Amino acid sequence: MHTVGVIGAGQMGAGIAQVTAQAGYRVLLADVSKERADAGKSGIARQLARAVEKGKLDAAAADQALAKIETIDGPAGMAKCDLIIEAATEREEIKRAIFAEVGKVMTTSAILASNTSSIPITRLAQASPDPARFIGVHFFNPVPVMGLIEIIVGLATSNATVAAIEAYAAALGKQVVRANDAPGFIVNRVLMPMLNEACFALGEGVATIKDIDLACQLGLNHPMGPLTLADFIGLDTCLEITRVLFEGTGDPKFRPAPVLVKYVEAGWFGRKTGRGFYDYSGAEPVPTR
Ligand code: 3HC
Repeated sequence: MHTVGVIGAGQMGAGIAQVTAQAGYRVLLADVSKERADAGKSGIARQLARAVEKGKLDAAAADQALAKIETIDGPAGMAKCDLIIEAATEREEIKRAIFAEVGKVMTTSAILASNTSSIPITRLAQASPDPARFIGVHFFNPVPVMGLIEIIVGLATSNATVAAIEAYAAALGKQVVRANDAPGFIVNRVLMPMLNEACFALGEGVATIKDIDLACQLGLNHPMGPLTLADFIGLDTCLEITRVLFEGTGDPKFRPAPVLVKYVEAGWFGRKTGRGFYDYSGAEPVPTR
């Protein structure tokens, strides 16, 4: 494997492009426009510069990684890729359109992977040219920091595809877990009910936003409290995944908390919109209630 295409230059796509380039692969980075892909690359340059400033990375290695990333107009330019990772918006119709476009140009040996956090891989594979060469590769945010890749094996995914992705993950220095194509896979199956439950607790007046977060952060030794983490992931994403769990299992224990629904209806998606359970407009996040 030599060249990896990454579709989507947002937080996840840029992170994937960065760690892939740092592992020595050539990376083609695309988004809806060249400008968006370039903006993603500028963000990567900033991350690498910070790592150099902190003495975590030498300047030559940072330059080398950046030089390995080429931004392109769109997925149609990915004909030379051995692996193409889609990290676009978590909407099935958008992902399907990307697979149709990239499917026209990818080689008969290339692998197509989706970084979806919740859409069934077996179903998405139907929009790809060859379901045997289709797989889920679920990275975690922030990608350069988080040590895990969850591999989701669809019904038709071949063993050769799984082996190639495991080798790629090992080259990135990430640990791999294999999940079957069940709603939420492993991490979100376990995480989202906790975040959703924190929203129920808030809605029922069990405690304030600040105390729910402090309790879980210090009482469970988690790096972030659940409401801070939900803001970090994006409340729209949390709601979407919770709905997938609820609809995919039919189990009422996964029903979305009304508070979560309300915040998303208000357009308060968390950090990315400047407001979620916290207001991020000042120097320090301030709880919104
Ligand atoms: N990109 C790259 N590096 C980053 C970063 C980013 N966006 N944000 C933080 N870092 C690095 C810092 O540079 C620092 O590195 P260093 O230790 O080498 O200096 C390190 O992470 C720690 O950062 P900070 O000191 O600034 O801040 P914290 O100690 O508060 O850590 C955190 C920040 C790493 C984000 C930590 O709070 C954390 O691990 N939070 C939980 C994250 C988590 O659970 N992610 C998974 C979400 S679920 C998911 O992604 C799945 C999806 O499907 C929903």
